[in-house]
Amino acid sequence: MLSSPESALSAKNVPQAPEDPLYGLVNAYLSDKSDKKIDLSVGVYRDDNAKPWVLPAVQKAEQLYQCDPDLDHEYLPIAGLPEFINAAQRLIVGADSPAIRESRICSFQTISGTGAVHLGGALLSRFLPLPTPAIYLSSPTWAIHDQIFNNVGLAIKEYPYFSSKTKMMDFDGMISVLGSAPPGSIILLHACAHNPTGVDPTHDQWGKIAKIIRANRLFPFFDCAYQGFASGSLAQDNFAIRYFIDHGFELAIAQSFSKNMGLYGQRVGAFHYIACPGSGAQEIVERVASQLAILQRSEISTPPLFGAKIASIVLNDKEICADWEKDLRTMSGRINTMRESLKQGLDQLQTPGQWGHITSQIGMFSFTGLSKSQVLSLREKWHVYMVETGRISMAGLNSGNVRYFAEAVDDVVRAAK
Ligand SMILES: Cc1ncc(COP(=O)(O)O)c(C=O)c1O
Repeated sequence: MLSSPESALSAKNVPQAPEDPLYGLVNAYLSDKSDKKIDLSVGVYRDDNAKPWVLPAVQKAEQLYQCDPDLDHEYLPIAGLPEFINAAQRLIVGADSPAIRESRICSFQTISGTGAVHLGGALLSRFLPLPTPAIYLSSPTWAIHDQIFNNVGLAIKEYPYFSSKTKMMDFDGMISVLGSAPPGSIILLHACAHNPTGVDPTHDQWGKIAKIIRANRLFPFFDCAYQGFASGSLAQDNFAIRYFIDHGFELAIAQSFSKNMGLYGQRVGAFHYIACPGSGAQEIVERVASQLAILQRSEISTPPLFGAKIASIVLNDKEICADWEKDLRTMSGRINTMRESLKQGLDQLQTPGQWGHITSQIGMFSFTGLSKSQVLSLREKWHVYMVETGRISMAGLNSGNVRYFAEAVDDVVRAAK
């Protein structure tokens, strides 16, 4: 008879971890029975009927793929689907980029933007010169950055980014901290549509950020989760990345197709490394690619096929790609209309406070400036679900609920007076 078993993992050594705050909020929203409820928490696009939107360009690509007589379910290469990777590369750095012309770039398909941020973090934490540098994140930033970089052993530091007083960028604060960061530090930058604030540097400010990064020998790592989604223009949303490459920076890029192609659950993304120009660049890129292959193999072996095939058709088929650009304008246009409607609603109600930032911020999110207690009142009294920082996903608003939301905000703002 065997003695009765006992788990090695016990309550003593496995502490209960807190639920992910965002997914906790989604669950609370789902179990709310009110027909007035609004979900402004998760960054996913919704159409004007509050429904998920499969982009028409993506639908076309899916149909083409399903009809492909060569369709199979073989493993992809470790670096991913070549025609996807090449197209993703051209999209992110520009087809005419010196990085491509001079073979100074290597790219790996990843588990969407999250996987790309992770792969980049893993690479930099292992191979940047010792002592392993810290990574500087904007304050605030996407909630998961901290966890991902912690997991790969990078020390986390912050640079100021947003002034809650002016509801604009704290540009001087940012420049001052970057100016005193130890050389070699990694600087995580949001390429466009900063999450959560919706506030981006101007072109002139990007120039100044580049200057301080060069002067202080820092390492720029761009997180690009919203290309084309922010302004509706793929090129406009990529100004910063192209600017840095044109000025000869070594850099890393995490690219996501979740938002701009609506491929959230398919997990389509890429990580790109670009070496500085110079005679040794190609050798560095080859070495980096060889190490990325080892990291990728040990973590996911090879990336998934379906989403990459769809994205590849969208990017490589001229007609479908033009349709996609139209879809991008549809999404960013609807979000901008919601910004206007919300601002108008608050103006009409003469809600106390300044609300100009609602229309001056861009992209998926708006940092409303509402306090934690106002956010909680919105949830309890008005069935409006948003994260405690006061960030809202603009895509959760539509012509049917934007007035209701403005009234709800008006009520909690007045109650706090
Ligand atoms: C700034 C930023 N980076 C990365 C991601 C990763 O997204 P995904 O893994 O869905 O591509 C997100 C998603 O919200 C984001 O906002």
